Amino acid sequence: MKETIRIKDKLFRLLVPKKEIDQAVERVAREISLDYEGKEPLFLCILNGSFIFAADLLRKITVPCTVSFVKCSSYSGTRSTQYVRNLIGLNEDLVNRDVIIVEDIIDTGLTVSNLLKDIRKKDPASLRIAAFSFKKEAFMADFKIDYLCMEVPDRFIVGYGLDYDGFGRNLGEIYQLATE
Ligand code: IMP
Ligand code: MG
Repeated sequence: MKETIRIKDKLFRLLVPKKEIDQAVERVAREISLDYEGKEPLFLCILNGSFIFAADLLRKITVPCTVSFVKCSSYSGTRSTQYVRNLIGLNEDLVNRDVIIVEDIIDTGLTVSNLLKDIRKKDPASLRIAAFSFKKEAFMADFKIDYLCMEVPDRFIVGYGLDYDGFGRNLGEIYQLATE
């Protein structure tokens, strides 16, 4: 496990080691499995960033469940554009389903806010949010995160699905931007 890595022009330092990530995902999977006992939740994962978290989380869920994906994007480089693009639509039938949104990181909260609006129109039985990480200081929305692995500082991070200009998603650990 490297302490420092370089992606393109930027230097990143280790923030969360793999073991800590695994333990947090395990805990959240347990919480969800307990809460959804007797139900068949549908995990709606936001691409691209949540694919690693979703894959780890879902393999630890012990209730029967289904999975689908939506694609949104609000970031360009290391900055939020405050504008969310819906790249793959919501074409799943959500009527009477217990939906759990799966997101890699909640920053301003704009991406999930937009998705919540769209999903509510589709009459799900219930709707909750599972996020791997949360930048509390950057949050501007008003929804509650039902299942959270960890809070992170309000600095750009990469790894475990999160990217810098497309790179770094494959890192097993979370790294934080060292220089700006
Ligand atoms: P929000 O709409 O501001 O909550 O941003 C959420 C999306 O921005 C996430 O799904 C990520 O794709 C991206 N994002 C936010 N913060 C970071 C970061 O520190 N590194 C990489 N991507 C991020
Ligand atoms: Mg994302």
